[in-house]
Amino acid sequence: MFDEVSPRYDLINDVLTVGNDRLWRIATTRAVAPRPGMRILDLAAGTGTSSAALAAHGAHVTAADFSEGMLAEGRRRHAGDPLVEFVWADATELPFEDDSFDAATISYGLRNVGDPKRALAEMRRVVKPGGRVVVAEFSTPPSAAIRSPYRLYARHCLPRIAGAINRHAAEAYRYLNESIEEWPAQQELAAWMTEAGLERVAYRNLTFGIVALHRGFVPHDRRPEPAKPRAASSEPAEPESEAAASQTAGGVE
Ligand SMILES: C[S@@+](CC[C@H](N)C(=O)[O-])C[C@H]1O[C@@H](n2cnc3c(N)ncnc32)[C@H](O)[C@@H]1O
Repeated sequence: MFDEVSPRYDLINDVLTVGNDRLWRIATTRAVAPRPGMRILDLAAGTGTSSAALAAHGAHVTAADFSEGMLAEGRRRHAGDPLVEFVWADATELPFEDDSFDAATISYGLRNVGDPKRALAEMRRVVKPGGRVVVAEFSTPPSAAIRSPYRLYARHCLPRIAGAINRHAAEAYRYLNESIEEWPAQQELAAWMTEAGLERVAYRNLTFGIVALHRGFVPHDRRPEPAKPRAASSEPAEPESEAAASQTAGGVE
């Protein structure tokens, strides 16, 4: 499916999100905090748009994906960028040694992975102690006033507009919407990250919670047993206020 939409993937995203995807990428890049010399894993990197944003800050980025179509398109687009390296990888079985990266991130990809909890555990495994794992993913707007019209748009308008740009995309974006509706809300994803062994897990909502940005850190005392699943109420992540979240999403670097 991703192979078929890869040539116009970024254009479709720009149109469907009315340009908000660019602001979400800026917020995600800030959350990863790339610096020159860092090695960063951008998992499910697709055509490498998020990878190039990280590399622009001087970090070396491994853009990993399991779609040959996405990788080919990414290699073509970023051929002149020596800091972005495209690598075939399955998120649930990463072909990297423990502690290979200073940080790992995944944008709009975790929801598509067959076993997302395993992918989170793999991200934790390949990141050095003290390094961060950042997840940008579609989520659940907490306010019903936003949630209801957004769901109508996503169910009915989104596949039609996408289909007008690329005939394969209508089906892909119908799937996209179903997968978003089935995806856990902010608190549950935060709990998954804690279960994967990350600490200081927190999230903030972007554009009213249409997207949520989660981050956690690999503990310094290496290789603790992943935490046992616990009730959502025992140690919640720290959502920022809706106002603060919208302000951040709309901020310009
Ligand atoms: C919606 S795209 C996101 C691309 C990119 N991260 C972005 O922000 O534009 C989702 C990507 O996840 C990749 N993907 C899904 N499951 C995967 C897996 N198990 N391992 C690696 N990549 C996977 C797909 O091939 C696709 O390129």
